[in-house]
Amino acid sequence: MKSVTDLGDLRGQRVLVRCDLNVPLDGDTITDDGRIRASLPTINQLREAGAKVIVLAHLGRPKGKVNSEFSLAPAARRLSELLDAEVTLADDVVGDSARATVEALADGQVAMLENVRFEPGEESKDDGERSELADKYAALGDAFVSDGFGVVHRKQASVYDLASKLPSAAGGLVEAEVEVLQKLTGDAARPYVVVLGGAKVSDKLNVIANLIRTADTLVIGGGMVFTFLAAQGHEVGKSLLESDQIDAVKGYLDEAASGGKQIILPTDIVVVPEFAADAPATVVRADEMPKDQLGLDIGPESAERFAAVIEKAHTVFWNGPMGVAEMEAFAKGTRAVAEALTKVDGLSVVGGGDSAAAVRDLGFADDDFGHISTGGGASLEYLEGKDLPGLSVLAD
Ligand code: 3PG
Repeated sequence: MKSVTDLGDLRGQRVLVRCDLNVPLDGDTITDDGRIRASLPTINQLREAGAKVIVLAHLGRPKGKVNSEFSLAPAARRLSELLDAEVTLADDVVGDSARATVEALADGQVAMLENVRFEPGEESKDDGERSELADKYAALGDAFVSDGFGVVHRKQASVYDLASKLPSAAGGLVEAEVEVLQKLTGDAARPYVVVLGGAKVSDKLNVIANLIRTADTLVIGGGMVFTFLAAQGHEVGKSLLESDQIDAVKGYLDEAASGGKQIILPTDIVVVPEFAADAPATVVRADEMPKDQLGLDIGPESAERFAAVIEKAHTVFWNGPMGVAEMEAFAKGTRAVAEALTKVDGLSVVGGGDSAAAVRDLGFADDDFGHISTGGGASLEYLEGKDLPGLSVLAD
């Protein structure tokens, strides 16, 4: 992959930079600005090189329609504060406003186009439609820097197609993320423990298949635990369950057992009669869950066990909360796992927007961990060994 410095002298050049500014919002308040902060070094590098910087980004999934709910205005405001410089947001993506905004840029200044996903071509499955939109992006710039690591697994116009239209390079964030993930797929220091949480087993099945082979131990928490417990023949009450995945999960449990790998499941669960922050919680054995309750967190015994396994590892990758971490009563498992990661003597990686937001929300600092990845889906797909279009298009 080419680096920004390989693009030559950028003074006076219009440089389009794809960032992942898909931040969580409460109304128009950003609740975790980690992705914006992670984008700063490359934007500053381009400014210092004298480029006219044009940020391309998405927010949410507006599905090709202009929708003010998904405007990048909060992200542009926050970027401006963090850069301590004006960031003009165009009213559209590739229309008159975008052209005028770019035209008005002086060397070292920064502008942002509106949410690229307002354009139907951005996420189109039709190569021609995406290419047509990428041509319009390309007309606004002289070079392209791909720095939105969280979207490199998406074959989208501003991620994939644009890279073939202009001299292109990977930004420092993408380079740093890839460097860490290479350590996880290459010669990871052992023991190598992967902790997976979050709600959906189906989203993570492929990565589980791959990780059973590469990691030494898989620790499973979060909503997906109940599909594992059901696969072992246990009652899971009203908990989240993906019945259609039970057979696949049984296969993984068998494969792990025959390959000498460990899959560690919780032995106790925090259950409630209904989903509510103040529901009366009790702790039950994982193999004795009452029919009329649902599990919202791993129990204290499991949290202790998970932490002990994590702390002994020399490489840890963690994706997905252990429970409903945004509700204090069900955040203890996630907190215990995060705490354990901070004690790892080796490489600890928190993967994904949700997990990153959860650890910051729980009061941890970014440098408590070896690396906080800005990409959830992207890092998982990398670990799955999949081809990531936004990276392969940058290959030399
Ligand atoms: C993310 O939030 O993981 C990235 O911004 C990608 O978003 P997407 O899943 O909507 O493509």
